[in-house]
Amino acid sequence: MPSSAALAEFMCSHIPITPSVRVVEIGAGTGRLTQALLKNGLSAQNLCIIELDPAMYNFLCQNFPHVTIIQGNACHLSQLLPESWFGAVDCIVSGIPMVNLSFENQSQIIQACLGTLSPQGKILQFTYGPLSPLPSRKLGLSQKRLGHVLMNFPPATVWQYTKAVSPSGGRKISRIKDLKQQSLKQFQRLKKHPFNNNF
Ligand SMILES: C[S@@+](CC[C@H](N)C(=O)[O-])C[C@H]1O[C@@H](n2cnc3c(N)ncnc32)[C@H](O)[C@@H]1O
Repeated sequence: MPSSAALAEFMCSHIPITPSVRVVEIGAGTGRLTQALLKNGLSAQNLCIIELDPAMYNFLCQNFPHVTIIQGNACHLSQLLPESWFGAVDCIVSGIPMVNLSFENQSQIIQACLGTLSPQGKILQFTYGPLSPLPSRKLGLSQKRLGHVLMNFPPATVWQYTKAVSPSGGRKISRIKDLKQQSLKQFQRLKKHPFNNNF
C-alpha cells in the first residue's frame, strides 16, 4: 500500500532540508516519500534511492529521472552508495517493513546504515504497529517516537533512530586509565623491591 501524502509530509517535517543535506531512501516503493522529499526542497542530486524490487526500481526510474536510483538490497548499502557519500549521509528514510525481517537481516541493514551516516545522522522509519519496529538496544540504537499519522492506511507511527552513545562510556575509559596507572605503579615498585610483594 503506498504511503499517504500526510505520512510523507510528516516524515519530511523531521528532516531539516537545506541545500547541502544528503538523504538516502531505502525501500522507496511507489515513491511517495521521494515525491515529498523533492517537493520540500531536497535537491535531486542530494537524494539516493535503494530499491530491491526490479519492477519498483523501473517504476521509480521512470518517475524520478533526475534522482540516483540503485537496484539492490539495503544491507549492502556501503557497496551500493557512491564513495563520496560514506559518512556524509544526514538522514536515511526507510520504507522497508523492518518488523517482518529476522534480527540478522535487521542488523545487517542497520549496521550498513550506521556506516554511511554522518556523526549526527539519523534514520527515520515508519511502522504500522504500536511498538518500535526495531529492537533498538540490541542493535546499538537510541530510539525516539516522533508521532502517529492517522491519515494513512493503515495509520502509521514514525520512529527516529540514532547511534546509541553509552552514558557510562566516558566513565569506563577513565576507569581503564586508572587501572593502567595502578598496574604501572605496582610494576615499578616490584622492580625496585623484587622480593617484597607486600603492597
Ligand atoms: C512498504 S513498501 C514502501 C512504501 C513506500 N513508502 C510507498 O509509498 O510506496 C516497501 C518497499 O521496500 C522494498 N524493500 C524491501 N526490502 C528491501 C531491502 N532489503 N532493500 C531495499 N528495498 C527493500 C520493497 O521492494 C518495497 O518496494
